[in-house]
Amino acid sequence: MPQTTQGALSPHQFDALAEFVKSRIGLHLRAEKRALVESRLIKRLSVLRLPDFDAYLDTLRNDPSGAEMNALSQALTTNVTAFFREAHHFERLREWIRSDVSPRLARGEEVRLWSAGCSIGAEPYSIAMVMIEELPSEYVSRVKILATDIDKSVLARARHGEYGARETENLAPDILSRHFTVTATGHVANDPVRNLVQFRGLNLIEAWPMKKLFAAIFCRNVVIYFDAPTQAALWKRFLDQLEPEGHLMIGHSERLDQNALRSVRSVGVTCYQKKKEGATQ
Ligand SMILES: C[S@@+](CC[C@H](N)C(=O)[O-])C[C@H]1O[C@@H](n2cnc3c(N)ncnc32)[C@H](O)[C@@H]1O
Repeated sequence: MPQTTQGALSPHQFDALAEFVKSRIGLHLRAEKRALVESRLIKRLSVLRLPDFDAYLDTLRNDPSGAEMNALSQALTTNVTAFFREAHHFERLREWIRSDVSPRLARGEEVRLWSAGCSIGAEPYSIAMVMIEELPSEYVSRVKILATDIDKSVLARARHGEYGARETENLAPDILSRHFTVTATGHVANDPVRNLVQFRGLNLIEAWPMKKLFAAIFCRNVVIYFDAPTQAALWKRFLDQLEPEGHLMIGHSERLDQNALRSVRSVGVTCYQKKKEGATQ
């Protein structure tokens, strides 16, 4: 057995932790991140009063409630987000609502969108605000926005829908006044915005319960932490979950693999449209 110092994450323990993390949440921990991982997780050892990382690994492996898994995922990933982040995606969304979504809703169809890895809700609420701005109110009830994340604490914040001054600073004043109400500590999203979005816990690397296809999927700045095979598997699953001609928006530093690229056409920066079956262009 390799010797370990209390509180230190040995290479052997790091490998065991990295394997566990990859299999449970998809996150790829590179060996050169060992010191960073140790510094992020050492706090968990003191909170849980554990003597060393072997005991921490045991705790993770016997965690029926998933509470420590949630804490681990929070410690190792970032929830950084912003309203209308990567603004070009929302410009594309506006164009597509006018050309495609609005006529579909007019015919009585439902349109489903998915914000996968939604963090505290800024992304799905930005989508909801664009829908409300662009569509007649009688159509909006046929728009369904699903927003999912692995982290229960960000989902609780997202459902609450309240944001501090720093979090709303990049919202145009007219958007803020139309869609939010002032509170003692910031702004809370108004009911029409909140009611458009359903929040659910979902680990992207596990099975997905959704049966219906989506007209658009936003999965931005999430898979960046996964290794290439995990990313490629996820792109395929997202494309399978999209309607023909559906949109896939990914983060600015993410790239589709060659297989996924064959099934889509580029319609903007990190913005893709799924080809119809058999289409070559
Ligand atoms: C950096 S935030 C991105 C938020 C938003 N999509 C955006 O671009 O502003 C990444 C989010 O992905 C979530 N996440 C990380 N791994 C995940 C997984 N395996 N399944 C689901 N969500 C995950 C994190 O909890 C975090 O809230």
